[in-house]
Amino acid sequence: MDKMHEENTIQYTDWDDGFSVGSSLIDNQHKEILSFINYVADYFRKGKDSEEEFEKIVHMGIQQLENHFCTEEQIMDAAQFAGFTEHKIAHDGIKKELEDKLQEVNSTNRAEKMIEISDMLSAWIVNHIKNYDLKAAECFTAAEKQGKQGV
Ligand SMILES: [Fe+2]
Ligand SMILES: [Fe+2]
Repeated sequence: MDKMHEENTIQYTDWDDGFSVGSSLIDNQHKEILSFINYVADYFRKGKDSEEEFEKIVHMGIQQLENHFCTEEQIMDAAQFAGFTEHKIAHDGIKKELEDKLQEVNSTNRAEKMIEISDMLSAWIVNHIKNYDLKAAECFTAAEKQGKQGV
């Protein structure tokens, strides 16, 4: 079951063993992403807000997400996984949505928007793991066993 903690209007999603795709490489990336999103939501919820930190968060977050999607895509592509295209479309969709949402952030709405984005992203990641990553678990597990771990 998902472990959700509700604080004010923000929901924090933690790692759940049910999310495991049988690859420590992918599982660790998912854990890092969820924990980073929680850090971001928490940072802005505490009323902290700096342009410099915002820039750093956006840079790190996008890098982390792109690296993760790339890792999964390389493994699925190499395994000629039947659901590859559909899975990649889902990755590209969230990247686009994230970029669009980040465009809406300005110095007056930054904290509010970043909390909203963190919330959206954390829900998306959990749904995506359940609806896509777990369906590709066979590829990820096999790749790890073969020592082919993508990027
Ligand atoms: Fe994925
Ligand atoms: Fe994933």
